[in-house]
Amino acid sequence: MFAADDVCELLNRRRKDPGGAVLGLATGGTPLGLYRELILRYQRNEISFATVETFNLDEYVGVAPDSPKSYHYYMRENLFQHVDIDMSLTHVPETFDVDLKSSAERFEHQIEQAGGIDLQILGIGVDAHIGFNEIGSSLGSRTRVKTLTQQTRLDNARYFDSLDEVPETALTMGIATILESQAILLMATGSQKSKAIRDSVEGPITASVPASALQLHPDVTLVIDRAAASGLVNIDYFLRAERNRAVASRSS
Ligand code: PGA
Repeated sequence: MFAADDVCELLNRRRKDPGGAVLGLATGGTPLGLYRELILRYQRNEISFATVETFNLDEYVGVAPDSPKSYHYYMRENLFQHVDIDMSLTHVPETFDVDLKSSAERFEHQIEQAGGIDLQILGIGVDAHIGFNEIGSSLGSRTRVKTLTQQTRLDNARYFDSLDEVPETALTMGIATILESQAILLMATGSQKSKAIRDSVEGPITASVPASALQLHPDVTLVIDRAAASGLVNIDYFLRAERNRAVASRSS
């Protein structure tokens, strides 16, 4: 699996470094396969998380960290409790019973203290949000509270008992925070993401399409299936470029 290979390469390369690898993590349906694969590779002794520090993109405001609806819970359930990670080195934005502005500043500071994020995993929303940077998010934004679009609330209602229960706001890394990562891996599957992928890759850079800001980053890899790629006008070119990249990496 391509995404897992990338993460494992980073973990093994940084294993002996003081501080270890710094991984940016995402939630939602898309990265679940990646987390399952990482757990398998850990169980096969191919990787260790012992020195890995992690930062999650976002967390809902007003959802307790022990609630099954929270992203704290999601990360424990889907990755952390299955591997040898040091929980004190895992950071999911704190949004419950805290001052949100101070929490956002602390989160940014912790990323800086860790030496920055080596590899940020991203999903993408149907409206092309990354993290919870919704349409209109400043391309210079940092960690802060954002209001979720109705589209995002509808998309995420499947995790709640009703739409009314879906929070209105979340604390999210900003677009500038994400762009400071050394490398970015954006994953997307399914035709419902095809417009977001097309607009982000082939459209103009605009706050109306938050993921289009990734065009400014020198090291972004898209791991997407055929359905998510189906809107790309230049798909033939991208497939040829991908083949050439594979040939170049085999001969280097
Ligand atoms: P999904 O969410 O992986 O559940 O589709 C992606 C996102 O909203 O960033």
